[in-house]
Amino acid sequence: MSEHLLCIDDLGASGIQQVLELTEACEEISARPIPKVPTLRGKTVATLFFENSTRTRLSFETAAKRLSADTMTFSAATSSIAKGESLRDTVETIDAMGVDAMVIRHPSSGAAAHVARWVNASVINAGDGQHEHPTQALLDCYTIRRALGLGSGSTFDGLRVTIVGDVRHSRVARSNVAALAALGATVTLVAPRTLLPPSLEGWPVQVTSDLDSVLEATDVCYLLRLQAERMVGPLIPGVDEYSRRFGLNQSRANRLPEHALILHPGPMNRGLEIDDEVADRANSRIIDQVRSGVAVRMAVLYLLLGTPGVLGGDRVLEELSTTIGATSAAV
Ligand code: NCD
Repeated sequence: MSEHLLCIDDLGASGIQQVLELTEACEEISARPIPKVPTLRGKTVATLFFENSTRTRLSFETAAKRLSADTMTFSAATSSIAKGESLRDTVETIDAMGVDAMVIRHPSSGAAAHVARWVNASVINAGDGQHEHPTQALLDCYTIRRALGLGSGSTFDGLRVTIVGDVRHSRVARSNVAALAALGATVTLVAPRTLLPPSLEGWPVQVTSDLDSVLEATDVCYLLRLQAERMVGPLIPGVDEYSRRFGLNQSRANRLPEHALILHPGPMNRGLEIDDEVADRANSRIIDQVRSGVAVRMAVLYLLLGTPGVLGGDRVLEELSTTIGATSAAV
């Protein structure tokens, strides 16, 4: 793994597999009565959120604490950004305090990559505009793997994933397409033309605007939120019409194969892209996604901060299993 995690391509298939392996060990820590190990003691993780977030920010902070790192929280609304300070001055200031990792969410695509050039800390992209959200894709892959009972090192060959909705504005969709395809899944995007990116060149996907035509051939149905805050002008005739054509309502959910999983990155608009009752069905893994989020982010923090420069493949697992072997009492 490189020194930063900016996009899924930074990992490639083997890096993704490595994160998924480590996530399993981190889930084991999270399940302990005292879910904490000393692994990152002495390290500092700063979360810098220039956009709203519930699960991503809290799960990164929880992940850092479970590994005994110190945390620093930055929130744009209460910072000197409100006095006109630039992004570069802000992150250089925080870097000067001596942080080891910066977890950054920003409304501009490419912001995390810029920050990575300006600071010494490892940068983790927690969502940059419409570009990428790599840890979301990793936690989604982990959730799928667990739900399907796939073992260590398994690929997603033959798995049919249908991603429905506002792909155009979705960093989650971009990262997921990259990660799912790298693991071998077949990905179909379902959206009105206006909610697809202007070009899909190079995207390893099939595309349709007819959700009903792909339901029976879906193993994982992944709903996206209509991201109204990123839309410039009206891109759909109305939310009722959108919901009728692209919402996962009860009759559509009934047509999915029995084994099919339902995923959504949250926050959900219940009744719009997903029916209220469907979101709570047994095959909906939306809460599992949140749970996986903490363990996946522990794995990523460990890979970036654990033992810089010397870890690779088996060494990582060896070292993590040694450190997680330390009893919670040692914390
Ligand atoms: C997503 C995001 O912020 O990109 N949410 C998340 O991180 N769980 C998706 C969204 O906002 O719709």
